[in-house]
Amino acid sequence: MSDVVPPSVSDLALPTCDFTVFGATGDLALRKLLPGLYERERQRQIPEGTRIIGVSRSPLDDQGYRDLVTETLLDRIPADHQEAGALHRLVRRLHHLELDAGSAEDWHHLHSLLKGRPDDAVRVYYLAVASDLFGPICDRLDDLGLITPQCRVVLEKPIGSDLASSRVVNGAVGRVFDESQVFRIDHYLGKESVQNLLVTRFANTFLEPVWNSRWVDHVQITVSETLGVEGRGDYYDRAGALRDMVQNHLLQLLCLIAMEPPTYVGGDPVRDEKLKVLRALAPLTGADVDRDTVRGQYATYEGDVGRPSGTETFVALRAEVQNWRWAGVPFYLRTGKRMARQESTIEVVFKEPPHAMFPHSEGVTTPNRLTVRMQPDEGMQFHLTAKHPGPGGIRLHPASLDLSYADAFDERSPDPYERLLLDVMRGIPTLFMRRDEVEAAWSWVEPILDHWAATAAEPVPYPPGTDGPAGAADLLAREGRTWQESV
Ligand code: BG6
Repeated sequence: MSDVVPPSVSDLALPTCDFTVFGATGDLALRKLLPGLYERERQRQIPEGTRIIGVSRSPLDDQGYRDLVTETLLDRIPADHQEAGALHRLVRRLHHLELDAGSAEDWHHLHSLLKGRPDDAVRVYYLAVASDLFGPICDRLDDLGLITPQCRVVLEKPIGSDLASSRVVNGAVGRVFDESQVFRIDHYLGKESVQNLLVTRFANTFLEPVWNSRWVDHVQITVSETLGVEGRGDYYDRAGALRDMVQNHLLQLLCLIAMEPPTYVGGDPVRDEKLKVLRALAPLTGADVDRDTVRGQYATYEGDVGRPSGTETFVALRAEVQNWRWAGVPFYLRTGKRMARQESTIEVVFKEPPHAMFPHSEGVTTPNRLTVRMQPDEGMQFHLTAKHPGPGGIRLHPASLDLSYADAFDERSPDPYERLLLDVMRGIPTLFMRRDEVEAAWSWVEPILDHWAATAAEPVPYPPGTDGPAGAADLLAREGRTWQESV
């Protein structure tokens, strides 16, 4: 690892590249990747000569794919972002190759297309397909001589379904690509409010002295969704909320809250610090799992997936980071589908003042709390106790300092994929997961999965549109706490 601070993003020109998407007609490509690229095209950030090569099993030629993408973009992009010029520029970059993985001829077509450019061209391979295909795709690219030091590969989660399978997948990719070429996406790291968490912690001084077990009572991380599994039942029913959300997104958020200051905010320093947090998580095994985790399933789930199922659509759990800074501070995590609210927040709840200083006051002090709101309305709030103005002695009143991005900045908050796709093209790894992080996260999650699998208990049903099973509230209530419903 180098101690030299790398150049800032604005110093790194975007290279012309061949951006190849495997799974080009899938949900992710059409809903996230192409709209993300379109927005950057609109900002004129995609260099001349960049090609976007869609690869899928669909029998589409270039024009067919261009039509499909045009239709999808017109449908998805808000009217005030639709610009005929940008759409035209993007669509001209698109190509499509129908590829049957077993057909040498199909691979040959990809080879011919990519070899039309010199070998030192930047090539990005985005694998928006199931992770058991990552290894075989990488092997074929390697056999065809399509991997050079300028190539990057992007892996979508889930990477495996447990520690052993993630090792197999990472190992297969690692035989062909150097770790520095591998970009494992966790789109939560591309959210503006999540990046701002790093800035708030490390570009300011006021939090650091109180960011520890002496002053912080506990932390809550909530990602609650109102949607159910929609069209993803097949995948989801094999995954469940712990694999789909906790192993990656929620643990990454926990890492950003709990990590030590890195030497600078860059690839390895940030990931080294996150890794230390993952490795410091107190293992949850056996009876701890019964005590500290809650599983739920929304009552109409089996109807949605069309079969009886023991898959959890809700998880709440209590974790602890066993190090000097955080010893004894609970981190409560919860996530669920078909919940009452569409809301992702982190709450850092501080301790009560050590002494009640306003004997003749009305009202009570409420603990200070920092809310990081990822959605809706990205922003941050600091909750404190203030004096209610006017006569009547000291009246204590809860109040908050608000940073709403929409009000503070005259800028649209980009979708995380916009940022992350450009980081891949530029080769900036900070907001991507390293192999050892992914594996450390699986190591922590796996005993929970194992224990659930070994017990006869099923997830607790909860009515759609609620806060999940009552056990989630009990998890906090038994320690005299409640989930914050942020306002
Ligand atoms: C994905 C999960 O990674 O994140 C989905 O697979 C989930 O199940 C989604 O709905 C949530 O992302 P966001 O950005 O909408 O909160």
